[in-house]
Amino acid sequence: MKILVTGGTGYIGSHTCVELLESGYEVVIVDNLCNSKEEVVDFIKEITHKDVTFYKGDVCDKKLMQKIFKENKIDAVIHFAGLKAVGESVEMPLYYYRNNIGSTITLCEVMNEYNCKKIVFSSSATVYGSPHKLPIKEDFPLEATNPYGRTKLYNEGILNDLYVADNNWSVALLRYFNPIGAHPSGLIGENPNDIPNNLMPYIVKVATKELEILNIFGNDYNTKDGTGVRDYIHVVDLAKAHVKAIDEVLKTKGVDIYNLGTGHGYSVLEIVETFKKVNKVDVPYQIVARRAGDIDACYADATYAKEKLHWEATKEIEEMCQDSYNFAIKYKNKHNN
Ligand code: NAD
Ligand code: WQD
Repeated sequence: MKILVTGGTGYIGSHTCVELLESGYEVVIVDNLCNSKEEVVDFIKEITHKDVTFYKGDVCDKKLMQKIFKENKIDAVIHFAGLKAVGESVEMPLYYYRNNIGSTITLCEVMNEYNCKKIVFSSSATVYGSPHKLPIKEDFPLEATNPYGRTKLYNEGILNDLYVADNNWSVALLRYFNPIGAHPSGLIGENPNDIPNNLMPYIVKVATKELEILNIFGNDYNTKDGTGVRDYIHVVDLAKAHVKAIDEVLKTKGVDIYNLGTGHGYSVLEIVETFKKVNKVDVPYQIVARRAGDIDACYADATYAKEKLHWEATKEIEEMCQDSYNFAIKYKNKHNN
């Protein structure tokens, strides 16, 4: 079975390609490299000892997408390609709508054309906005609090509408909580070019002394120690869930929605302290004002994924912190900076 992975050289996409290949699937990647590097394709091959077909290009480019479907008999698609920086989406909403929604429309048009109607989509816990209670279940009310979140909500709606119009579609909407960590090989991981927005990549850059100090956004939240609580999930666990979702969409029809998290919440201070302890490294920090739009706490009820996909996260927070740092050190040594 051949799976097209859009955004396959990105952070979550690359780990998913590894898991797909190791589960016996063939993989075709399309990525325009706007937030990743082509060398990732070689790292995926190095880890798995398997071959991968790579197309450099934009999912919004219909001719390219038609060429990919013409040259490969695609059985299903995992659609990761998208822009993901919340703050940037507020500054450049049209860029986000064009890229994140335009890519889905073009992709689905071409999938229809080639009668490939099985898709797994990268959604996000951001679609729950400020949850009224915890843990979060898939049927909680949905709310977008920024353009990025709105692109996720619209895309979910588009894919749902496709199924309503044509019951041959099979759609899995995966709502990720906070992915961190890296492949244990240290070959692939998260590697933002700019100053990171997210907590773990920021901690890593402070630990490697590329950044001076971690700013902790507020210690007056209604949480165990006043700092924000999130459901951090190891990216390899997350990647494995995609293989289960692909197995499922290949054999069913309809729309299914899954929360992908561990079900446990950790505070910013707990993450920093664990990172320091397991990696034996200092992470200086200071408490600063809250970041606009942040919520107190967010963690998943992932029971449905366990029941339906027979998947659950297995990796603990210590391993997540170790693997994040291990990748950063290896990457730094390799690139000599
Ligand atoms: P990433 O930026 O590492 O990967 C996305 C990849 O898509 C990149 O390689 C980028 O070059 C590519 N891309 C973007 N637009 C494209 C286009 N139009 N055509 C072709 N390639 C394109 O991000 P990630 O963390 O791996 O996230 C993958 C998906 O998961 C995204 O849709 C993101 O919104 C979603 N998601 C991520 C998180 C997270 O915290 N990382 C949480 C929830 C959901
Ligand atoms: C985690 C905690 C911050 C950075 C975002 C998106 C969400 C999803 C995942 C894509 C919070 C605190 C952070 C820092 C800090 N992405 N923090 N100092 O905000 O839960 O979710 O990424 O879909 O849509 O909104 O993740 O890693 O940015 O923050 O104190 O430098 O760390 O306040 O409590 P978040 P995050």
